[in-house]
Amino acid sequence: MSTKAILEAVDISKTYHTSEVAVEALKPCSLQFTEGEFTAIVGRSGSGKTTLLHVLGAQDTPDQGEIYLKGKSILNLNDNALSRVRRRKIGFVYQDYSLFPEYTAYENIIMPIRLDERQEDQAEIEALMETLGISHCRDKFPDEMSGGEQQRTALARALAIKPDVILADEPTGNLDAANSRDVVRLLAQASKVYSQTIIMVTHDRQAADYADRILTIADGYVKE
Ligand SMILES: Nc1ncnc2c1ncn2[C@@H]1O[C@H](COP(=O)(O)OP(=O)(O)OP(=O)(O)O)[C@@H](O)[C@H]1O
Ligand SMILES: [Mg+2]
Repeated sequence: MSTKAILEAVDISKTYHTSEVAVEALKPCSLQFTEGEFTAIVGRSGSGKTTLLHVLGAQDTPDQGEIYLKGKSILNLNDNALSRVRRRKIGFVYQDYSLFPEYTAYENIIMPIRLDERQEDQAEIEALMETLGISHCRDKFPDEMSGGEQQRTALARALAIKPDVILADEPTGNLDAANSRDVVRLLAQASKVYSQTIIMVTHDRQAADYADRILTIADGYVKE
């Protein structure tokens, strides 16, 4: 494994302001993720895992600090450039899947490729769906699929763009033990074979065992 930092966060923090209170969801922290490294993020519900993942993946902006992807700041990019980074470099698997209800599984998976004005390799997408056990969902809409099938579709969508970094928010949260293990093995393989940097939030201790590194987060404090 190379020791080059692909993704680096320097002194980032995030506070949510609601009408009632301010929630310091992420206390100041600095983190580095190297090429091909598989990191698991664990912590209790409400500890700040999704907040951290969203900030790392430029889904949300931190209150302070910098995020570098391959040495380039991604916080100061204009909207177009940021969208491009999100479509090409960072694959994001949302905790709530965020599939488009009016599109089939296949159409959801190829969406980022098409938005990037590229043509997908159909055989490759179908092979990916086969690997994830969702071939039978090819032409189904999200509301015709189980939670676990939707979750694997969301993962396929992130993998399909072959990003440098995959950020997955509890990608096995809705899967049975066997499927869970397969998905985590697939992520571990992606990190080793394709040198993709994987950051996975999980509640599953066994899933975390596949990771090279485990970060723990408690009340917004991140610890190695
Ligand atoms: N948009 C928001 N506005 C206000 N507070 C928020 C918002 N999003 C999250 N929070 C608060 O920030 C804290 C961290 O939330 P976060 O979603 O990061 O937790 P989590 O570790 O992902 O939890 P879970 O395991 O339940 O998904 C929580 O106290 C939550 O209530
Ligand atoms: Mg969460």
